Amino acid sequence: MPFGWIKPEEYSFNSLLLMERFQLRYALGREEPEWTQAMGIALAANPAVVWYIKHRCPECAQSVDRLVADAPKGVSAEKLRHAEVFVIARMEDFAIYTTPEKMAANCDFIRGWNKERLFSLADFNKKAVLDIGAGSGRLAFAAAEKAAMVYAVEPVGTLREFMRDEIARLGIRNIRVLDGFVERLPYPDATFDIVMSGHVVGDFIDAELAEIDRVTKPGGWMLNVPGDSEFDIGPWKELTSRGFEEIHYVGSFGKDVHVHRKQKL
Ligand SMILES: C[S@@+](CC[C@H](N)C(=O)[O-])C[C@H]1O[C@@H](n2cnc3c(N)ncnc32)[C@H](O)[C@@H]1O
Repeated sequence: MPFGWIKPEEYSFNSLLLMERFQLRYALGREEPEWTQAMGIALAANPAVVWYIKHRCPECAQSVDRLVADAPKGVSAEKLRHAEVFVIARMEDFAIYTTPEKMAANCDFIRGWNKERLFSLADFNKKAVLDIGAGSGRLAFAAAEKAAMVYAVEPVGTLREFMRDEIARLGIRNIRVLDGFVERLPYPDATFDIVMSGHVVGDFIDAELAEIDRVTKPGGWMLNVPGDSEFDIGPWKELTSRGFEEIHYVGSFGKDVHVHRKQKL
């Protein structure tokens, strides 16, 4: 189901040139026939994107060659653009990360969210805080109003640069931005009083939670804080069954939101 964050027809297929290796690997791993045909048509007409993917993500090279070889030949300009827009639309999240300045206005989880939801989950005053998958900084910038220091880990370069530009523009002195994945956090054990994320954990939940637990100090808090959505965000058994407290509220779009917290013993 589309999130409705972008108008895909406004995005160039060259947006892929701003994407990271892990995003390209994910995209090239998709196998639905409609997707592979559209991707093949688009790649065959965009040699610079082919070159970029093959050099940025060598493990994708074979898939790229196969998609291009299998793509129908002699497609019209209209059919080509349709294929490019189809691909962008199906990579809606990755596409909007190439235009981070549009996120606050377009993404429901940012524009509908009230930072008091975060402050009600733990005491942030003078704490050392980690935000994992920080995105454009929804949680990090809020936490920095109270925390001693916030570390924002984000694997997408365009988003890291956006946060750094905002930090400079606003003269913020207590946020540091760096590269990293939830699966391998670049910090020693028991570093943070609060470790938070929103819309990040879930693909490999046990490994992700183990890594979050590892970097949290005893007595510290682990928080899952999605923003308000235009769709109901249901209860999440995967977290409650692993000892997280679940807190429900009706968000600014009138839909259910569930946030989670767990104190490390
Ligand atoms: C929907 S955005 C949410 C951004 C931010 N947490 C928020 O709630 O405003 C998901 C974020 O997770 C990041 N991400 C994706 N895979 C990740 C991973 N394996 N580890 C850490 N972050 C990841 C994306 O780059 C993106 O910034």
